[in-house]
Amino acid sequence: MVTRRDLMAGAAGFSVAAAGIFAVGRRFEAHAGGLQKVIAQPEAEGVKAVTFDLAERPTALPCFNGRTLPLWTFEAGTTFPIVRMKLGERLDTVFKNNLPVAGEVATIHWHGLRIPNDQDGVPYMTQQPIAPGAEGHYSFVPPDTGSFFFHTHCNSVEHFGRGLIGALIVEGDEIEPPDAEAVLLMKDWHIGPDGKFLPFSTDEGAARGGTPGTVRSVNGEASPVITVPSSADVRIRFYHLDPMRVSDIGFENAEAAIIAVDGNGVTPIPLESWRMGSAMRVDLLLRSAPPGHSVKLFDYFSKEPYLLAEFKSEGAPKRTAPFKATPLKMMPFEKLDEASAQRIPVEFSATPTGASIAAAGAVSDIQIGPLCLTKRTFWAINKQAWPGADHKELGPPLAVLKSGSSYIFELKNTTPRAHPIHIHGHMFEVLSSSLRQLPRVHCDTVLLLPKERIEVGIVAGDPGKWMFHCHILEHQETGMMGYIEVV
Ligand code: C2O
Ligand code: CU
Repeated sequence: MVTRRDLMAGAAGFSVAAAGIFAVGRRFEAHAGGLQKVIAQPEAEGVKAVTFDLAERPTALPCFNGRTLPLWTFEAGTTFPIVRMKLGERLDTVFKNNLPVAGEVATIHWHGLRIPNDQDGVPYMTQQPIAPGAEGHYSFVPPDTGSFFFHTHCNSVEHFGRGLIGALIVEGDEIEPPDAEAVLLMKDWHIGPDGKFLPFSTDEGAARGGTPGTVRSVNGEASPVITVPSSADVRIRFYHLDPMRVSDIGFENAEAAIIAVDGNGVTPIPLESWRMGSAMRVDLLLRSAPPGHSVKLFDYFSKEPYLLAEFKSEGAPKRTAPFKATPLKMMPFEKLDEASAQRIPVEFSATPTGASIAAAGAVSDIQIGPLCLTKRTFWAINKQAWPGADHKELGPPLAVLKSGSSYIFELKNTTPRAHPIHIHGHMFEVLSSSLRQLPRVHCDTVLLLPKERIEVGIVAGDPGKWMFHCHILEHQETGMMGYIEVV
C-alpha cells in the first residue's frame, strides 16, 4: 500500500540529496533530513528509542535517473536511516513488519555488535521471525563504539536489493574530535532497461561472484559531491553495503589514514588503498583540500578507477599543521591466548552443482521465494551446505567453543571467488594470510581472496548459537552459511 506521505517521502529524499550532502562540524547536523536521516529519540536517561516500519516505499533516488523503484525501507522519509547513540546507552527498538508480500517474515540483525545472543536477530535460531502485520522488539546496550549497521536476516538478497539497510553508529571513540564527519553507504542496484528491478539473484551469479547490479551508488547518488571544511580533518565512515562487489578504495592525491576497521579503532594506517568486500566498514581520516579544491575517492578494483565521491572544500582553512592522524580509543577486547588456542580448520568450497553451473555459465532466473525456501546449494563450509536458504533446518554447529577460551580459525578458500566471511557476536583478530601482509586488526568480516588461507583468532564470547557465513548474500543463501555454538 502506497500512501501520499510515502510518495512525498521519496520525493523529499531526492531533493535533499540532489542539493548536496553536507558534512558539517557538529555530527548531529551532518545528515539532517532526506536521504540519510539521523533517527533515535532520547526516551529516558541513557536510553534511545527507535520505531521502524518496514514497508514498501516507491522512491526516486538520484542514481535512479528519474525512475521510481519500489524500495523496502525501515522508515518513511529516509532511505538509509542512521541510528546514532553514545557508548553506554541502551537502544530500544520496536519494529512493525509491513512488508507487502504474504509470508515475508523479518528479523533485524545488528551487524558487528557483540550483544546477547537473543538480540542477534536470526530467524528460528535466536528468535521466532516476525510475520507481516506483527511487531518485534529489541533492547540492548552496545558494548563497543564504532560504525555498525543493521539488516534483516532472511531473504536478504532481495531485502538488500530493495535497500532495506541502515547504519548504527556508537559514539565515544574520539580522543580529539575531527572537524567534520560524513557517512558513506556504497551499494549497487539491479535495474533493467525498462526501469524495473532485475532479478536480484541468478544461478549463474550465485554460483560465481554474485549477480552484479547495473547502477552504482554512494548514498543513493552516482558519485556525490560532499561539501567539507577546507584543510580540515574529516572523518569518513565508509560502509561497503553492496551484497557482492569487491572494492579497493583510495583517494587521489590526498593524505588520509585508516583509523578503524569494522568499527574498531586501529593504530592509524596510512591509506594507499584498502580492499573491502560486502558488509565491511572502514573509518578514514582525510585531510581535505585547500579552499576551492576537492579530493576524490575512487574504487580502484575495477579496470577503470570509478569515482565514488568527491569532497569539495569550502570556507577558511581549518588546519595548518601537517596531517597526523589522531588514533581513536581502542576497545578493550579480551586478549587472545595464542599459545593455548585450539586450531579449527574451516574450508570454503563449491558444491559439485555450484562448480558445474559456474563452469557452464548456465543462466536462469530463480525467484527467491518469500519464505526463502530455495534449495539451491552451490557452496559449502567444511563440505556442509546449509540446508535451505533460511534458518529453519539447523544442522550441527561447525564448532563448539567454550566461552572465554581462545581459538584460531584456519580459513581456507578452495574456490576461485572471494568470500567476505562474517561472524556474529564476535570479532576476529586477523593473524596471517598466505597471500598478503595484513595488519593485525579486529574485524567482524574478513575478506578471503581466491585460494587464500587466512588465520584469525577468536575469543569465544557469550553463550549461544552464532551465525558464521559468507556475506556475499547469494553465497550465504546457497549454502555458504553455518554457525558456531558457544557454551
Ligand atoms: Cu550482516 Cu549474518 O550478517
Ligand atoms: Cu562467498
